[in-house]
Amino acid sequence: MRVQRICCIGAGYVGGPTMAVIADRCPDVQVTVVDINQTRIDAWNNADLAQLPVYEPGLDAVVGRARGRNLTFSTAVSEAIASADMVFISVNTPTKTKGLGAGQASDLRWVEACAREVALAATGHTIVVEKSTLPVRTAEAIKTILEAAHDGSEMRSFSVLSNPEFLAEGTAIRDLETPDRVLIGGEDQSSIDALAEVYSHWVPANQILRTNLWSSELSKLTANAFLAQRISSINSVAALCEATGADVREVARAIGTDSRIGPKFLQSGPGFGGSCFQKDILNLVYLCRYFGLPEVADYWESVVTLNTWQQHRISRLVVQKLFGTVTGKRLAILGFAFKADTNDTREAPAIRIAGDLLEEGAQLAIHDPKVMVSQIARDLKLESSGTSEGLSGIGSWGQATSVEEAVNGADAVLILTEWRDYQSLNWKSLAARMRRPAWVFDARAVANPIQVKEAGLMLWRVGDGAQ
Ligand code: UDX
Ligand code: ADP
Repeated sequence: MRVQRICCIGAGYVGGPTMAVIADRCPDVQVTVVDINQTRIDAWNNADLAQLPVYEPGLDAVVGRARGRNLTFSTAVSEAIASADMVFISVNTPTKTKGLGAGQASDLRWVEACAREVALAATGHTIVVEKSTLPVRTAEAIKTILEAAHDGSEMRSFSVLSNPEFLAEGTAIRDLETPDRVLIGGEDQSSIDALAEVYSHWVPANQILRTNLWSSELSKLTANAFLAQRISSINSVAALCEATGADVREVARAIGTDSRIGPKFLQSGPGFGGSCFQKDILNLVYLCRYFGLPEVADYWESVVTLNTWQQHRISRLVVQKLFGTVTGKRLAILGFAFKADTNDTREAPAIRIAGDLLEEGAQLAIHDPKVMVSQIARDLKLESSGTSEGLSGIGSWGQATSVEEAVNGADAVLILTEWRDYQSLNWKSLAARMRRPAWVFDARAVANPIQVKEAGLMLWRVGDGAQ
């Protein structure tokens, strides 16, 4: 079977870029991305490619090539399902906030709704591909819903595959175009072959791994848990470096040259953010507890605990260095996205750190090259005072449109996202705008320490005990 029409439910950070690359690489396959969110779909259809709802380097070019040719964005969900022979489910699966498994298990209501929509609308043989990050055995739930909807007619049939996404935001297009591997889990060989054929347009055959459904789902959780564990490990060592006079970057370089450890994902920072790491680990924790493995659950949970601790540690440190109080003090926050090159703020360390400082009464001037002011307000659960020039009293924040505006009259600058713009700041001229004594808290270690010090600023760099 050769796939001719793909429908993807969910036009978010995963569905949008993934389908754009599939459409770009497979010009003969019609790809329709559907979403219930009209505003999001309108943004994907915006003639101005700079206004796409997801910011990803290179995404505009890929969408520009494929849109209108074989890539369509629409809100007509059931029509797109009906005409597709393969349906990707790529909807949000946040951690449950209420009820059974609250705080750990994934909320599958959107996935379930999709499965029911597919069950109603599909025609002919439909391969349903699970693309969202899902706890192990979700494919089974999807299968149960689809089978229950089977009306016995030979005209309709379903098979379910798991095809986890490994792209990282900020490098999504590169990750999709040259993936380390593509993972396809399933039982039905011909469906697996059909999906493998789609990827074979640009991914070498030996990089397309086939597993059973459960291994595929569990691999996604495990990959993210391992990656996040490295970050918590290096952040724990960063705190020890600060206490002992070592430098975490030197330690990371030294251990990273061991080929068994490798150099990647050893960058100490303000803790990991993003929609996946915490959610996936908590899922793993929930599964372990469910299956009677409390020691394993505790082991993985400590990765999240350490991450939260690292974020609070940074805000506590800022307060301590500023004579134990930030009440009424102006602080510049540089970077709100959870990492550079994305406008995504889900679980961004900046949310917790800014939240702590607001609670302490600080006035925050927040700058980020891509994150919108309305998003920051939602994340901080606090309306802004407008521009940072108009900051109003205790515990308030405003958006700064430039780094210069952010630091005007500030007692401290906190660098929380490693945007390229922050790597080459003119510290001498910024220092002249600040109130003395002035601090730079560089949680990403991107500023040039010599220039910061020459500008007469005090510097704290994550993991730098030698400073
Ligand atoms: C992650 C996985 O990398 C990806 O494979 C999966 O599909 C989704 O989750 P993402 O969250 O988009 O991707 O970005 P990633 O580059 O992994 O960064 C996650 C967080 O870890 C960021 O907050 C980043 O700043 C932080 N990080 C990463 C570090 O603090 N240090 C590092 O060395 C690497
Ligand atoms: P991700 O990072 O996993 O892509 P996002 O939250 O960015 O997550 O995107 C998920 C998208 O799925 C949202 O745009 C949301 O509107 C959409 N969505 C959720 N449920 C449905 C549904 N039943 N039908 C269509 N779209 C849906």
